[in-house]
Amino acid sequence: MIQETIDRVGQLLHDHLSQSKAGNTPALNQQAPETIAKDLQLKERLKQGFSGQDDLLSFVGTYLTHTNHLSHPHYMGHQVAVPQDLSGIPELIHGTINNPSSLYEMGPAGGTCEGFMINWMLDKIGWLNDRDLYDFHFTPGQASGVLTHGGSVANLTALAAARAAIAPEAWTEGNPDDLVVIGAASAHYSIARALSILGLGKNAFYPVDVDENEVLKIEDLPRVYEKAIADGKRVMCVVANACATSTGLFDPLDAMGDFCKNHNLWFHVDGAHGASAVVGPKSNSLVKGIEKANSIIWDAHKMMRVPALCTAVLFSDFTYQAAAFQQKGSYVFHDTEVVGVDSMPYTIECTKSALGTKLFWTFALEGEDKIAEFIDYTFQLAKDFYHLLEEEDDFSTPYFPQSNILCFRYEKFDIDDDFQKKLRYTIINEKRFYITSCDMNGQRYLRVVLLHPDTTVSHLKGLIEEVRRVAQTIR
Ligand SMILES: Cc1ncc(COP(=O)(O)O)c(C=O)c1O
Repeated sequence: MIQETIDRVGQLLHDHLSQSKAGNTPALNQQAPETIAKDLQLKERLKQGFSGQDDLLSFVGTYLTHTNHLSHPHYMGHQVAVPQDLSGIPELIHGTINNPSSLYEMGPAGGTCEGFMINWMLDKIGWLNDRDLYDFHFTPGQASGVLTHGGSVANLTALAAARAAIAPEAWTEGNPDDLVVIGAASAHYSIARALSILGLGKNAFYPVDVDENEVLKIEDLPRVYEKAIADGKRVMCVVANACATSTGLFDPLDAMGDFCKNHNLWFHVDGAHGASAVVGPKSNSLVKGIEKANSIIWDAHKMMRVPALCTAVLFSDFTYQAAAFQQKGSYVFHDTEVVGVDSMPYTIECTKSALGTKLFWTFALEGEDKIAEFIDYTFQLAKDFYHLLEEEDDFSTPYFPQSNILCFRYEKFDIDDDFQKKLRYTIINEKRFYITSCDMNGQRYLRVVLLHPDTTVSHLKGLIEEVRRVAQTIR
């Protein structure tokens, strides 16, 4: 029964993927939740259960029609990976056997995959030194890391570690009132959120000026630092965007790293989106200096074809990781009797999914080189799109892209922000393309994030035509 049901679900998934890859489905079919709930018969099925295998399959079929079709080559929306076709299999295995990997004894294979992939990531950053990928020990003085559920949780974890380094007493006694964090005014909102959750408050963030494309102005960093000192504050950490969420442009990591070293400051790189550049042979110069960080976060579920969520928090020294959280739970934290390594003492989560398995699996499906080529391909595609837009009189784009994110505007009829917003909504409701929009430098832009391995220049030409067509209908 398990096998037959999984086979039939597999057939539905196969059809779903092949239809949306061929562009025979909408990019996004967005209905109101009341409509979807009725279609899915949520009330009836909750009460009575599926009436049999056919009913279960009918649910899956309907469910798939109400999804955002990330496998459609016109998916150019948020920073969420288009997974490799078979990337879901570890989720099926995990959902069937339920082996959370934060306690080694609850999921030895999952815990091992996590330790291995963390070592692989440390190696990419240049932090593994001469250690073997099969060295599964956490050792003070050597780099370390854990996987966690998403970049926001990862940023919170890294900032908790930065706080523990400058104010170790805060865990027990609460925060001193003189801690601040410095970073680009364009830092992701999860940084401000983390500061509030840590009890430091959003005002503990001292913003550095950014240029017109939201990149930190390195010449303003000393001013903000001096101001913090003049205000009687201690700088807990300096945060770099690698890259900025809206524009996909990188802060000057190398220079920021040097500044932090010279002033003995914790340097945190928010590489949720762009740390993956380290893997791409043509892209890794973008993250030059990342190795100067004390902590780095890196989402695998953005650029590396891994299904959400899967994020690494990496530390240049395990001592930092060990100090981030200081709870004891006698039923889980065993110092001596552990065969492998428990990540639980170092994560916000107590129980967590088998994140390392799906990260390893996607790489094993493609091989490391193909993922590296894919990252370089998407970064190049954004450049190709820039050149296409530059040739058109009715479009403008404010900057040459570094990653796979590009903002642009359609300016023939109206340059008003509301027009750009309406344009985006109408485009996605017409169902042929899925794109996003964002504010940048006080203006509203259309925005693409190119994450599909099959998206080509000809699809981007199609987007240009679609924007023109839709703009005519709403002018
Ligand atoms: C720079 C940056 N940091 C953090 C995050 C949050 O990551 P997540 O969505 O995995 O929580 C994002 C998300 O887009 C991001 O772009």
